[in-house]
Amino acid sequence: METPFVFGKIATAENFTDREQETAHLVSNFCSLINTIIISPRRWGKSSLVNKASQLAVADNRNLRICRIDLFNVRNEGHFYTLLAESVIKATSSRLEEAVASAKKFFSRVIPRIVVGTDNTNEISFDFNWEELKRNPDEILDLAENIARDKKLKLVICIDEFQNIEDFDDPLYFQKRLRSHWQLHHNVAYCLYGSKRHMMLDVSTNPQMPFYKFGDIFFLNKIKTEYLTEFISDRFSATDKSINSDACAKIVELADNHPYYTQQLAQLSWLRTGTNCTLETVCQAHTALVEQLSLLFITITETLTTQQLNYLHALIAGETSIFSADVMYKYRITSTVAISRSRKALIEKDILDNTAGKISFQDPIYAYWLRHHYFAL
Ligand SMILES: Nc1ncnc2c1ncn2[C@@H]1O[C@H](COP(=O)(O)OP(=O)(O)O)[C@@H](O)[C@H]1O
Ligand SMILES: [Mg+2]
Repeated sequence: METPFVFGKIATAENFTDREQETAHLVSNFCSLINTIIISPRRWGKSSLVNKASQLAVADNRNLRICRIDLFNVRNEGHFYTLLAESVIKATSSRLEEAVASAKKFFSRVIPRIVVGTDNTNEISFDFNWEELKRNPDEILDLAENIARDKKLKLVICIDEFQNIEDFDDPLYFQKRLRSHWQLHHNVAYCLYGSKRHMMLDVSTNPQMPFYKFGDIFFLNKIKTEYLTEFISDRFSATDKSINSDACAKIVELADNHPYYTQQLAQLSWLRTGTNCTLETVCQAHTALVEQLSLLFITITETLTTQQLNYLHALIAGETSIFSADVMYKYRITSTVAISRSRKALIEKDILDNTAGKISFQDPIYAYWLRHHYFAL
């Protein structure tokens, strides 16, 4: 039997809950071609939300095309330009012949070798001369606008894992280049999203940065408890199992409303359930999940400095006045500078999150593991 929960993949259809306001907001931005930047830690549902909003926006709008690009394995500008060109051509062509014709028509300065998929895959890919492309990427950066204008389309280009551009040779120069072209586009909007909160924030809210005031910025939150509990209960019922309300609430509490972990813990609980899932089942599933992840957590913890660990220890113990002399002494924190430094490094490592000055753990299961296994509080 198919299991009723999904994690690690885009959540669609009955696997997708809540996000009504965010979806409506994004659909409206897409339809009105408003640039958007979405920020949240990883696995909170950005890709799923963009996917959902894209489907709705396209269904409502005959002339709208959405082009989605994922930078998860893109590490240099050349790769980025190639992917952008391929994705834009594919998104604006309904057949392979049209894609080939577009490529011939819209590339005049840097002309790629066109590779057409065999075995009826309908795939097209481009092989650019990297040196030429580096000198002259303008045509690719304006490709979307030129095609949209020519074909009388509206186009939204969604770029996932945007933080990866940090690995490019000169990220700042690259961003300036993108912005200088993209801000002149009238038939294309851009939706940039990524998981490195501090980087995405810096890119979009720092007046010194090229993408400052580029568009509408929104922070995706976790999913509210009432949606998650109803969701879990519905998914159990759909597969002829049930779950009592305490057990449901426990899943959400242990996962700290984290969308991915909620689905994962619900799945582990479901697998352990004969007909009715109880609190005890959930606790067993949670123990198994913590065990399953403990090797990974050990590896992460080994990369931390003693001062970072001391600071985490104080946080895990629930200390609120970490800068006070007593607390610093108790946890062997050497100075207030050490606290600030540790905090900054832990945020950059995606271990902590800073939302409007409130520090929290990004991974609720890691926080649990630190408390109960590592520091054994
Ligand atoms: N709206 C949602 N409803 C239910 N589960 C969700 C939702 N959004 C995300 N999830 C869960 O979180 C996981 C990660 O979602 P994803 O969209 O890939 O996050 P991100 O792009 O922020 O890393 C999904 O596989 C799913 O388990
Ligand atoms: Mg994603």
